[in-house]
Amino acid sequence: LSDNLQYVSDSIRVVPGFPKKGIMFQDITTLTRNPKAFKLCIEAFVERYKDQKIDVIAGVEARGFIFGPPLALALGVGFVPLRKPGKLPGETIGAEYQLEYGTDRIEMTVESITNGQNVLIIDDLVATGGTLGAAVQLVEKVGAKVHEAACVIELPELQGRAKLKATNVPLFVLLEKEA
Ligand code: PRP
Ligand code: MG
Repeated sequence: LSDNLQYVSDSIRVVPGFPKKGIMFQDITTLTRNPKAFKLCIEAFVERYKDQKIDVIAGVEARGFIFGPPLALALGVGFVPLRKPGKLPGETIGAEYQLEYGTDRIEMTVESITNGQNVLIIDDLVATGGTLGAAVQLVEKVGAKVHEAACVIELPELQGRAKLKATNVPLFVLLEKEA
């Protein structure tokens, strides 16, 4: 890890047992409230994507809304929110994904991403990969191309990378952490 990414990594507070027993919660609010860490984090993404012809960034509610917009502004592209159910007006499409118990769903405004656009999907963390998998489905449903999925943190033990491999979308992460 570079010194800069080590600094970003060290800025993330780990909270054992939140929101329930057995989970090591990765608290990115200690990263975002540290302006140096937040800046280095966004700069690492900018460095990777500045010459990659991204047309639009799609971020997953809620924590993808924290990292997506500053990157979109830096790259000079738009930001599209992929939202929890029932939040978006107009015509939407949805994709369901598995949680430990039950299912969840994210939705996208149909015309927010158009056929042929090169889309970068962003979220804070990939665990099982269910959320990113659903995000990929949504963007592909409207005929756009998912350039890559990007996260600040990967929990490799939870195999999200393997799940995403089935979609043929590359996964880029800044940091790996223990689940
Ligand atoms: C968390 C996290 C990722 C997702 C990763 O979101 O922000 O989006 O879980 O898990 P997965 O890879 O197993 O799908 P969560 O739905 O808990 O809520 P939030 O972003 O709205 O806080
Ligand atoms: Mg989330």
